[in-house]
Amino acid sequence: MATARYVFPHKHLLGIEPLSPDDITAILDQAVAFEEVCERPDIKIVPALRKKLIVNLFFENSTRTRNSFEIAQKRLSAEIINFDADTSSLSKGETLIDTAMNLQAMHPDLIVMRHSAPGAHALLSRHMKASIVNAGDGAHEHPTQALLDAYTLRKKFGRLEGLKVAIVGDIRHSRVVRSNLWLLTKMGAKVTLVAPPTLLPREMKATWPGVEFTSDFDSIIPAMDAIMILRIQFERGTGNFIPGQGEYIRFFQLNEARLRKAKPGVAVLHPGPINRGVEITSEVADGPNNLILDQVTNGVPVRMSVMYLLCHPHGEAVP
Ligand code: NCD
Repeated sequence: MATARYVFPHKHLLGIEPLSPDDITAILDQAVAFEEVCERPDIKIVPALRKKLIVNLFFENSTRTRNSFEIAQKRLSAEIINFDADTSSLSKGETLIDTAMNLQAMHPDLIVMRHSAPGAHALLSRHMKASIVNAGDGAHEHPTQALLDAYTLRKKFGRLEGLKVAIVGDIRHSRVVRSNLWLLTKMGAKVTLVAPPTLLPREMKATWPGVEFTSDFDSIIPAMDAIMILRIQFERGTGNFIPGQGEYIRFFQLNEARLRKAKPGVAVLHPGPINRGVEITSEVADGPNNLILDQVTNGVPVRMSVMYLLCHPHGEAVP
C-alpha cells in the first residue's frame, strides 16, 4: 500500500511551540534535499518559489539571519523586497498593523519578520493573507535558529533523541533558548540549562518539566554530547542581573580547561554573534569541536525548507 504524502499543516511559522515532531522532521528532511542544491558546484538555484513575492521586514538588527533568509530566497528563485524599517513611515508614527496592511495590499506571498515585541508575528498573522515567518520576536521565539541547530546536531550525531544538550548563558532573555527548548524536548533530547541563578527563571520549569536547571557548569560538562553557548544580551538589560563580567567569565565561560572535561567528540554550538573572551574563548570558538560556522551554512537549506513548505505544503515542485 502506498503511504500518504505528508502535507505540511501550517500556514505560518510563528514558533516551534505549535509544531509536532512530524512537522519538525519534515522540515529537516526537506532541508537535506536543499543542502544538496546549496552544495552543487555550479548552479545552486531551483525554481521552487519562482513568481512568489517575499518581503523581509527586519525591525531589529541582524547579520546572519537576514542574510541567510535572503540567500535562501535567492536559491529558491523568489522575488524579494527588503523593507528598511529605519527609512519607512514607521518613523513617522505609522503602526505595525498599518504598515503591514499596506504591504498586504501589494500581495506578497510570504513575510519574514524580526521584531522586538513578543507576539508581533501572531498579531500580524491574524490580519494578513501572506504566510508569516518569525525571524525572532523579542525574548520569545527564534524558530529557524532552533531548526538549524537541530539540523546541525542531527547531521553530526545522526539523531536528536536521547542527546544530552547543555544550553549555557543568558537563559532569561534568549529567544534562541525558548525555541530550542520546544524543539529539543519535542524530539526527545535531554536539555540542561546552565546560568547564574538570576538568569535562570525557575518558572520555566512549569513549561518544560523534564529540563534540568543548574548554576554549576563544571559538574555537568562530562555528560554532555553538545554544549550550546549563548551571548549575554546586554541590550536587553542583562547587566542588571549579574555582578559583573569577570564573575560571569570565571564560572560560565567555555574555555579550553572546561572543554578538556567534556567527551572528546562534544559539539560546541553558538548562534552568534560571539563575544570572544566573554562567554567563549577564541581557542574554543575556532577549535576542532566547534560547529559554529556549520550552523551558519546549514541555516540556508533549513530556511529554504521552511519557506518552501509554507508555500507548497503538498511538496509540489520538489527539487
Ligand atoms: C540571536 C538572535 O538575534 O536572537 N542571533 C541570531 O539570530 N543568530 C542571538 C543573539 O542575539 O544573541
